[in-house]
Amino acid sequence: MAKTCLVTGGAGFIGCALSSRLPEHFDRVIAMDNMHPQVHQSPERPADLDERVEFVVGDVTKPEDWDRLLADVSPTHIIHLAAETGTGQSLREATRHADVNVVGTTQMLDALVRHEKLPEKIVLTSSRAVYGEGKWVDAQGNETYPGQRSRQMLESGTWDFPGLTATPFNSAKVEPRPTSVYGSTKLAQEHILKSWALSMNVTPVIYRLQNVYGPGQSLINPYTGIVSLFAQKAKAGEVIPVYEDGEIIRDFVFIDDVAASIVLGTLHSGANENAYDIGSGEATSILDLAKIAASIYDAPEPQINGMFRDGDVRAASCTIDDSKAALGWEPKVMVAEGVRRLCRWIDTGERD
Ligand SMILES: NC(=O)c1ccc[n+]([C@@H]2O[C@H](COP(=O)([O-])OP(=O)(O)OC[C@H]3O[C@@H](n4cnc5c(N)ncnc54)[C@H](O)[C@@H]3O)[C@@H](O)[C@H]2O)c1
Repeated sequence: MAKTCLVTGGAGFIGCALSSRLPEHFDRVIAMDNMHPQVHQSPERPADLDERVEFVVGDVTKPEDWDRLLADVSPTHIIHLAAETGTGQSLREATRHADVNVVGTTQMLDALVRHEKLPEKIVLTSSRAVYGEGKWVDAQGNETYPGQRSRQMLESGTWDFPGLTATPFNSAKVEPRPTSVYGSTKLAQEHILKSWALSMNVTPVIYRLQNVYGPGQSLINPYTGIVSLFAQKAKAGEVIPVYEDGEIIRDFVFIDDVAASIVLGTLHSGANENAYDIGSGEATSILDLAKIAASIYDAPEPQINGMFRDGDVRAASCTIDDSKAALGWEPKVMVAEGVRRLCRWIDTGERD
């Protein structure tokens, strides 16, 4: 049987990075995307989408778009990327996020049933946002889930949970407890896909991605992408404003490493009981990230401004040993080198 891979949201950042890698493994690769104006400057086919990939404009929330697509395409594999991705924005546009992320997923599953075109495998890119603040430990080593930082805490500049230290996320050890609408919709996607797929004899493969960055990311979407935001400020010679006390922790994972991990899982993974945590394995403070970007452009010292953003978690990093072992994968580009590559792409349009 011919192998066909359908990538929803396939014209986006991660979709384009996958587009040059998938055609060597599939007879047919189709990217379905509604060319969301918040992400794309123009509704035209993106230049970064590999020419071997068929491009279909379609909206995952619309049954008629699925009917049109599935009349022609019988996917053996689906990589489900299409999503609303703004964590902060999801607080004020909750319905839009739930509609695309939750209903878009159920519309896809219903359409596959309606057309009797069940794929062998569906790969979902969930997010580190499902963990919320994750699990912290006290001085005695007792584990606790501190929940969500209150407005009062943030307004008084109490950035951490007093007496507690954050631990890295790990899907086998840390329960998901989202603290944003976006994170809640991503967790709902995971549950919906898993329960549907296991009943339908379809293999679900779930990833939880940390902060993905690198050449090809949207430079116009103001709701995502702290790395490109910092890089663009530094390039303009501006002072990079750094929120809270600069010690917000993130794991910045380079786009090529993410794409490589998704291809491996799409080709080789069975259903994974625990989601694959995908990061660089390196925790970085946002102050250090700002310093890296500033030094590349010789921009002024970044300034900590004590401001905060609704929905931001304090510490998000992960352990990747389980994913490395299960996928036979290894991240190759750490943050200093990755930011340099992003800046080179912003400056010249070229990739290393
Ligand atoms: N980039 C990250 O840091 C990151 C981190 C964790 C998880 N993820 C997940 O990875 C996936 C892809 O993210 P990305 O970084 O490539 O984002 P992106 O915004 O670049 O790509 C998403 C694509 O989906 C499309 N889209 C949006 N709504 C759609 C709809 N209703 N129908 C069809 N297409 C639609 C957009 O036009 C866009 O091309 C998302 O599911 C996101 O939740 C990304």
